[in-house]
Amino acid sequence: MEALKLRRSTRAYSERPLEPQVLSDLLWAADGVNRPSGDRTAPYWRHIMVIDLYAVMADGVWLYEPKAPALLLHAKDDLRALTGTQDFVSAAPLNLVYVAHGERMTDVGPEERRLYASADACFIGQNVYLFCASVGLAAVFRGSIDHKKLAAALNLPDDQFVTFAQTVGYPRA
Ligand SMILES: Cc1cc2nc3c(=O)[nH]c(=O)nc-3n(C[C@H](O)[C@H](O)[C@H](O)COP(=O)(O)O)c2cc1C
Repeated sequence: MEALKLRRSTRAYSERPLEPQVLSDLLWAADGVNRPSGDRTAPYWRHIMVIDLYAVMADGVWLYEPKAPALLLHAKDDLRALTGTQDFVSAAPLNLVYVAHGERMTDVGPEERRLYASADACFIGQNVYLFCASVGLAAVFRGSIDHKKLAAALNLPDDQFVTFAQTVGYPRA
């Protein structure tokens, strides 16, 4: 009840980095493995996992590997500014980017791929919002992104696409 009461979108962030344990907990809450079956804290379309979660931070771009769990280095550059069209994204410590594997959604067309991948990303986004509310972090789920530019910066293959992003950090005092 308390987390739901505090959930909101925030667009002014401190540059303070997230402590490693906080980041780890956040990623687990977002889309971590919560059962021996390997299923996740977020539900997903047709039991086909299509969303990759990238953590875009000052020290590079990291791919969340929920099974280990681990963060795998994807790129060494600071690409935060490319994760959205709003100014705060470049200074906030973390931008999560929800990338969909279109090629795994074999028997549906492009429109449905977007729809179901977006639904999957939104559930993850709500987990992030509620986790953040529970530990005093700020967050905002974002669709205002130059999708082509971000996909190119992340070096995504043609069949993968960016759905949404979400900024996370401590609120600016
Ligand atoms: C699908 C979706 C896309 C959104 N895109 C953006 C965005 O690009 N930039 C932004 O600042 N907020 C974005 N938001 C956040 C909404 O503006 C926000 O949730 C809404 O104004 C209600 O405010 P609240 O989250 O504080 O309750 C988005 C929210 C959703 C669900």
